[in-house]
Amino acid sequence: MTQNGITTGPIGIFDSGYGGLTILSEIRRALPDYDYIYLGDNARAPYGTRSFDIVYRFTLEAVENLFARGCPLVILACNTASAKALRTIQQTNLPEIDPSRRVLGVIRPTVETIGDITRSGKIGIFGTPGTVKSGSYEMEIAKLYPDFKTVTHACPMWVPLIENGEAASPGADYFVKQEIDRLLEKEPEIDTIILGCTHYPILIDKIKKYVPDGIAVVPQGELVGKSLVDYLSRHPEMEKRLTKGGRCTYLTTENAEKFNESASIFLSHTVNAESITL
Ligand code: DGL
Repeated sequence: MTQNGITTGPIGIFDSGYGGLTILSEIRRALPDYDYIYLGDNARAPYGTRSFDIVYRFTLEAVENLFARGCPLVILACNTASAKALRTIQQTNLPEIDPSRRVLGVIRPTVETIGDITRSGKIGIFGTPGTVKSGSYEMEIAKLYPDFKTVTHACPMWVPLIENGEAASPGADYFVKQEIDRLLEKEPEIDTIILGCTHYPILIDKIKKYVPDGIAVVPQGELVGKSLVDYLSRHPEMEKRLTKGGRCTYLTTENAEKFNESASIFLSHTVNAESITL
């Protein structure tokens, strides 16, 4: 929609697959009145083991698609895309495409809150191999909390387990426990573990089962929701451009029925997705 030459429309939420649904739910809980378009690039997930260039190219395609559907604001509900593509899109692509639109990520809003949670200042981050390799969490945490120690750990099996519908299976317990043990071997004084991949909350019950008492396990959804509420209150020019009807459209690059089946488990309500090509 265009009003006085300015695009108005829904908030776009993008992830490589199902993980962004954990962010979407919390954003919708915090901001229920807005319209949303969720786009999962399930056909090309996982992104976590892909190179910088590929993640950047796929993410840019998704952002352009959401812009073409009228989204003035897109949230990269994916740490891998936030780590590997966000800055280039913000600094290089947005000024050319449309400087009035915005693309935001999930890493900064997560990092901003950890000072209120940790006592030891030793922070563990679980993420995809791509997020861990990017060093983004270490960099962002060091900017805000120079005295903290950040220990990152990649869990390459977790996203494939989730994307393949195996999150609840007994086999998943093995891979969850293994990565927790490995992280805590690196730094036993960790008292806060951030789930730095939007897929991981889908495994949260199993993660909590194997994390020792006294260590906080922090999913990102609620933090991103709060941060967006704050962002919109500070940016009324953007807030005015967002349409309000409480609707959500679901798009997937995979087969729509397959998406509907899995998404309904993660969201605990049914969805009716449309299959698209990027
Ligand atoms: N959910 C994404 C993240 O937060 C990416 C998972 C993947 O595709 O590997 O990193």
